[in-house]
Amino acid sequence: MLELREIHSYYGDSHILQGLSLQVGKGELVSILGRNGAGKTTTINSIIGFVPPRRGSVLFDNRKISGLPPYRVARMGIGLVPQGRRIFPTLTVAENLAIGARKAKNGRGDGWSVDRALEFFPSLQRRKTNKGNQLSGGEQQMVAIARALVANPKLLLMDEPSEGLAPIIVREIAEVIRQLKHEGYSILLVEQNFHLALRAADRVYVMNKGQIVHTSTPQELEADEEVKEKYLGV
Ligand SMILES: Nc1ncnc2c1ncn2[C@@H]1O[C@H](COP(=O)(O)OP(=O)(O)O)[C@@H](O)[C@H]1O
Ligand SMILES: [Mg+2]
Repeated sequence: MLELREIHSYYGDSHILQGLSLQVGKGELVSILGRNGAGKTTTINSIIGFVPPRRGSVLFDNRKISGLPPYRVARMGIGLVPQGRRIFPTLTVAENLAIGARKAKNGRGDGWSVDRALEFFPSLQRRKTNKGNQLSGGEQQMVAIARALVANPKLLLMDEPSEGLAPIIVREIAEVIRQLKHEGYSILLVEQNFHLALRAADRVYVMNKGQIVHTSTPQELEADEEVKEKYLGV
């Protein structure tokens, strides 16, 4: 469904992604782990088109999307839950969702509407008329996930959804991710939380200095003390 082929991405003269390749299959949950500064967000930004790769290509459903502007990538069916959540602070929960909403393709009746998203996240239903800046970090994260869902994407990119949240909220996020996978979503999850990244993943990649340095099943990574210590500090 998603394939990155030997991409090279830069900020100005800084060569950040250095020939990075990865894949996410249909219905697969793939996690990327790696320390701060490894290039995880740059990878997400290279897929979405915020930081277009200078070399290599990004393919989605076998079509080349590298070089397309972000709004076109989004319309093709890639949803983003950005690092730091980035919800609109002065808009209500319902308004934040309404901005992201887009009908499911092919007139599918089973897509996500704002109402369905509010049912899926009961804590948001109760807060629906509250403004973004009146929400807790966990509620803001749920809004960010719900906002991506109501655009009815085929692939979800999630950039550190657990960042800065209390363990009990991280467990809720993990449960949401598990349910989305169960519904058949393809998900690329970037995480520094080792257990969240491994929990529901089919496969994991470890990044270091703009490259993939390890790829395996979660079980294999769990057992690989050397990789864990060298690249993850676990
Ligand atoms: N806007 C930017 N301009 C210049 N350098 C950046 C920018 N954003 C990130 N970087 C650098 O790119 C590298 C990778 O960053 P990033 O992709 O954000 O890592 P991660 O998400 O894994 O923490 C880091 O060295 C970081 O300092
Ligand atoms: Mg990041």
